[in-house]
Amino acid sequence: MSSKITVIGAGSVGSTIAYTLSNGDIASEIVLIDINKEKVAGEVMDIAQGTCFRDPINIVAGEYEDAKDSDIVIITSGIARKPGQTRIELTQTNVNILKSITPEIVKAAPNALYIIVSNPVDIMTYVFTKISGLPENQIIGSGTILDTARLRCGLSEHFKVAQKNIHAYVFGEHGDTSFIPWTGAYISGVSVDEYYELAKNLGKEVDVLDKDEMLTYVQKSGGKVIANKGATFYAVSAAVCKLCGILLASSDSIATVSSMMHGEYGIEDVCVSTLTLVGPNGIQGKVPMRMNKEEIAKLQASANALKEVIKQIEL
Ligand code: 2OP
Repeated sequence: MSSKITVIGAGSVGSTIAYTLSNGDIASEIVLIDINKEKVAGEVMDIAQGTCFRDPINIVAGEYEDAKDSDIVIITSGIARKPGQTRIELTQTNVNILKSITPEIVKAAPNALYIIVSNPVDIMTYVFTKISGLPENQIIGSGTILDTARLRCGLSEHFKVAQKNIHAYVFGEHGDTSFIPWTGAYISGVSVDEYYELAKNLGKEVDVLDKDEMLTYVQKSGGKVIANKGATFYAVSAAVCKLCGILLASSDSIATVSSMMHGEYGIEDVCVSTLTLVGPNGIQGKVPMRMNKEEIAKLQASANALKEVIKQIEL
């Protein structure tokens, strides 16, 4: 696949995304941009010197103008959370960084699909949508694609079934107001609530899932990893690279990514994650998954919590 992908921010997330892309077959050209010229030069050199073991790929440290003709631009710039810090506490600082980046990158790559990763990602996706002047379909927040991956990992361990057979999602904010719409949670074609009977008939003992505990596991995983190793970057990079593959595919996929709401579930003018049709033309719309009224209320509460944050930032 000959595609050009620009990554802005050569911190642990941006550099790991660039490295993961360099090992996949998604990009043939990678541009890594950062204000710290020594850091970005070192990251590019370290990644480039491993590429002789795979198909030819060109990775360079660049300036904004080098992002010209990028198929995808990934924005990871911003300060990362410290142990015990919430994503929301980073908001104005990272919004200010995004405001400084946006005019430069949009001028260089007005036709690219943009993946916003910087936290708090739903707020950053909203701000970029408002200040970039780009069509909304070109703007995809990584949202809860990572949380959904964490949920699949946790449910796979609990039910002792391969992750590829777990179809369950995390909706709302990539953060503390996220929730799991269990109405739409399935193991292959069997709802999570009905799976125990099937497992018992197959002689498999499966404990009843503590759903609140599973949500806490998902919501607190980022903070736990940060507390243990200082930062998270492997899972979020794998999720973002998967999203790159979706955007460069020939047909659409469905993923829990963050994008602007326009009345779905009674929500508008805020970015949250729900099931979204996304592909080579970016965001194609929200897939209206059946939810019960409690789940719809949780999504609305998550959206309202993000709107309270938006009220406090200077666009
Ligand atoms: C996480 O949860 C980086 O916010 C991201 O790991």
